[in-house]
Amino acid sequence: MKQHSAQQPIGIFDSGIGGLTVANAIIEQLPNEEIIYFGDIAHLPYGDKSADAINYYCLRICKFLLERHCKMIVIACNSAASAAADMLADFFRDQVIFVNVVDPLVDTVAAKDIQKVGIIATKATTRSDVYRQKLQSKRPDLDVATLATPLLVPMIEEGYVQNKISKAIIANYLNDPRFKDIDALLLACTHYPLIKPNIEAFFKHQVTVFDSTTIVATQVAQALQQYQLLNDQKRHPHQFFVSDHTSSFEETTKLFYKEKIHLEYCNIW
Ligand code: DGL
Repeated sequence: MKQHSAQQPIGIFDSGIGGLTVANAIIEQLPNEEIIYFGDIAHLPYGDKSADAINYYCLRICKFLLERHCKMIVIACNSAASAAADMLADFFRDQVIFVNVVDPLVDTVAAKDIQKVGIIATKATTRSDVYRQKLQSKRPDLDVATLATPLLVPMIEEGYVQNKISKAIIANYLNDPRFKDIDALLLACTHYPLIKPNIEAFFKHQVTVFDSTTIVATQVAQALQQYQLLNDQKRHPHQFFVSDHTSSFEETTKLFYKEKIHLEYCNIW
């Protein structure tokens, strides 16, 4: 592995602003770290794209983050991680440490005493079948039911997280017969932590709901510790880049991130 220093930033990317839920958790758990975030708003949503297109976008974004000397890259998008995590690890072998949102969630859920798990995700993540394959390679006895829930991302981005419409859409998806008798539900999209309380309420708190935020932040902390790359002091402000900029997106970031942030337009295409 290329020699990195602890003072280098952590790169985090997503198709848009959903990955800010993961960035938030990382910053909360590791306040001395510096973040460079990239949201590929120009190509949003990844959930509706082919694996080939997603692979191409991810390669370019990682190159951008490496040019900014990131010591680690967090793939904070399930659609991207499902399509491209293995390819990126191969392509940038020895250059940077990768953490993705899929594996820590799989490890956590597989270790629990659960018989049946439901998964909700974008179409791209569902189509990849990565979660089911990884979960059942660790727990062949685990019953896995996966459902694509494509209306949730635009709904959340419009700020519909707790009103009649969001409740109706969530209920419509979660009433799917495939989810009968689940012990746990896995939120396999970085937008979904915003509606986690509503989902828990839908199941009357009888179903354990897992999301990737703190689980991924813990994985980041462990990997940095393992490579002795934990920063001792934050010296520069976090940076948030997007490949397309609209004021409405900047406004929406308030839902995903604890404080108001400025999104900097950067055309990498
Ligand atoms: N945040 C992305 C994910 O975790 C979903 C948004 C999109 O479809 O681009 O899959």
